[in-house]
Amino acid sequence: MTKFTEVKASTYDEMSREAAKIIFDDLKAKKDTVLGLATGSTPEGMYDALSTMINEADLDLSEVTTFNLDEYVGLDEDNDQSYHYFMDKNLFSKIDVPKENIHILNGVADNIEKEVKEYEALIDEKGIDIQVLGIGRNGHIAFNEPGTSFDSLTHRVQLTDETIEDNARFFEKKEDVPTEALSMGLATIMKAKKIILLISGANKQEARDLFVSGEVSEDVPVSILHNHPNVILLTDSEARGE
Ligand code: F6R
Repeated sequence: MTKFTEVKASTYDEMSREAAKIIFDDLKAKKDTVLGLATGSTPEGMYDALSTMINEADLDLSEVTTFNLDEYVGLDEDNDQSYHYFMDKNLFSKIDVPKENIHILNGVADNIEKEVKEYEALIDEKGIDIQVLGIGRNGHIAFNEPGTSFDSLTHRVQLTDETIEDNARFFEKKEDVPTEALSMGLATIMKAKKIILLISGANKQEARDLFVSGEVSEDVPVSILHNHPNVILLTDSEARGE
């Protein structure tokens, strides 16, 4: 098992600032950084802190490229539950990454097979320098649910009931949550040079403990990160049960 670094923040805000600082420093050091980005509640504070840092420093992002982890099937970018919409609201409307450098899977593509293949090929071409991850209560990363092959590349996914229930809080009713998504695979995520995993809140304590225990198994998708040489885990005290 590789020894990952754990940054133990006390609050959610502190964890968010620490994570933002890691990305900010990378962006400062390398003008053409390729960022892998996540959606969900967890990184919202980090995006807020990061956009403030970037704007205060007037950092030039004209050569930055981004790839998002996933998108729901069937929601277009104008749908306020789509991950396109989330990213625009939480980050891209606040900073100046050229539109053509922003890559998010198209959940309404006519040809899904082609969409996922081309996305993977583009990631191979550009290479991701730093990938941000959140985690599901069941240990999923991106939409790779328990049982997903460690060899998986960008693919179409059926969401589990647990994930649909967790994500229902963003929708009017559970029936509105899409049942499928497009997602980077576990092997795709492992291609990133550096990975930062954010875990916040008491409801994620079990998932955090499972990861920290070090057991590597396809039943716990996040456990693949033990095979990666450069992982930083950021937690708040609630996620550590303190
Ligand atoms: C989002 C993603 C998901 C979330 C996870 C946690 O792009 O890939 O794996 O990171 O479901 O979601 P939150 O942060 O809402 O608890």
